[in-house]
Amino acid sequence: METEVIDTGAIEKVCKKLLSGGIVAVPTETVYGLAARAEDPDAVAKIYAVKNRPSDNPLIVHCSDSKQALRLLKDVPDFAKKLSTLWPAPVTLVGISAVSWPQVQAGHDTIAVRVPKSAFFREVISRVGPLAAPSANISGRPSPTTADHCLQDLDGKISLIVDGGPCTVGVESTVVDCTGDLPRILRPGAITERHIEAFCQLAQTTSGVASPGVKHAHYQPAASVEISTTVPRDSKEDTLYIVKTSIGAKYEKVYSSAEDLARNMFAWFRLADECGLLVVKVQAVEEDGIGVAVMDRLRRAARG
Ligand code: TXA
Ligand code: MG
Repeated sequence: METEVIDTGAIEKVCKKLLSGGIVAVPTETVYGLAARAEDPDAVAKIYAVKNRPSDNPLIVHCSDSKQALRLLKDVPDFAKKLSTLWPAPVTLVGISAVSWPQVQAGHDTIAVRVPKSAFFREVISRVGPLAAPSANISGRPSPTTADHCLQDLDGKISLIVDGGPCTVGVESTVVDCTGDLPRILRPGAITERHIEAFCQLAQTTSGVASPGVKHAHYQPAASVEISTTVPRDSKEDTLYIVKTSIGAKYEKVYSSAEDLARNMFAWFRLADECGLLVVKVQAVEEDGIGVAVMDRLRRAARG
């Protein structure tokens, strides 16, 4: 299969592909997604096959506005309605499903919904209906934050990639479980505890629905990832150093803030592999704001 990279002007072509049961890689503010019409089980099955995604890991359904998103949930609690006013934003709400899309939900009675910021993506959704979209990487690999990363993983496997430029956030959306009495964060992201607590109290418990995705290996380059809580003092030739201030290593990337690290981290993981490096050593950031999401992804990349 020939893979074509097109720009956001080619919206007709994208809609046509999706309406005929195809899948398309599209930009969002967080990471690139691999989209299929949520109502089309055969198209959704293609996503799992192409990504080699475990069948027990449900997909997020992307909607054009909060009305469309909330309609997919049953008995929406007041706090979830309040949180939905954050949309369009990098936050996903999980609730009891009002629809039955077994592949999308991976057999659960819950469903995850989000309204993305990208005007292009929302326009596509308003024309073709809600779109199921996981990150557009092969499962286990770092999430793609440019069209080029999508091409690295999916060349020859899908026919269309839409290039909307680099993602502005760089880590996946915050996933919030709304099935209990209070919201609970299942996956940290750019929408932080502080944003949520501006609306309502957060649950302190760890009980409730689990995020099935969390148990799978994730975000891993071929190089092994190591986290350093201090400024690394060594300087090895087989290592990419990702640090706050330059240490003069042969391969290094310097980040200015947790936001900057979030935006670039996955691209730098991929770069280490392209350069054939064996180790990526990352200087930790403070676990505050988006730093919580960055450290979550780093720990999962460093695992295994
Ligand atoms: O920012 C994002 O969320 C990106 C862009 C494309 O929107 N999407 C994304 O999708 O990261 P994915 O499939 O890579 O991650 C979805 C996460 C997984 O951890 C999955 O287990 C969880 O959301 N999830 C999906 N449906 C769920 C459900 N019904 N209950 C609990 N967790 C769910
Ligand atoms: Mg993913």
